[in-house]
Amino acid sequence: MKKSDGKLKYNIAVFISGRGSNLKSIIKYSKQEKACYNVRIVISNKKKAGGLLIAKKYNIENYFIDFTKSKRLGNKVINILKKNNIDLVCLAGFMKVLPSYFIKSYNGKIINIHPSLLPKYKGLNTHKRVISNGEKFTGCTVHFVNRYLDSGKIILQKKVLINRKDNAKSIEKKVLEIEHKIYPKVIVKILSNP
Ligand code: GAR
Repeated sequence: MKKSDGKLKYNIAVFISGRGSNLKSIIKYSKQEKACYNVRIVISNKKKAGGLLIAKKYNIENYFIDFTKSKRLGNKVINILKKNNIDLVCLAGFMKVLPSYFIKSYNGKIINIHPSLLPKYKGLNTHKRVISNGEKFTGCTVHFVNRYLDSGKIILQKKVLINRKDNAKSIEKKVLEIEHKIYPKVIVKILSNP
């Protein structure tokens, strides 16, 4: 990918709805000298998202905008992204489907992480469903975002083994640990690909 403003590092935006543990790992990775990106903007569609506090702590420009509600707000976010020369939008626990006009305006430049081995277990309550179906393994997936829920082209998947003692909570923990490792690396990989 070509840097949009000729700067040394790529600019990324992270969209969140909640706690922001993936956001934190993405920011931490960016602080290494070798990292090729900066987290320029954080946008939350939830006012009380814990991730907004993380953005503040790291002095990252952050906004609460529930922009999936109206095209006017969607366009406001698009303007913020353009103004800040955002090269890649990373959804990290962003729990809304993006409107299609929004996806078109950043086509091929929006990625998401989902806590299952897609195409299995799209949507919510992934770990509970995985456990109640008696799956032997689960995992996480980073994929491009299209207009359908958790359905874009898969970039990377990692498997996590489920043992008999596991429950939804323990699986969430195991999967999150993997998410934190792979998401920053996928971001680097996407940005570094011409
Ligand atoms: C993560 O497990 C992420 O994969 C999932 O929400 C969690 C957010 O945690 N995303 C989805 O389910 C999207 N469909 P975090 O706020 O601590 O990063």
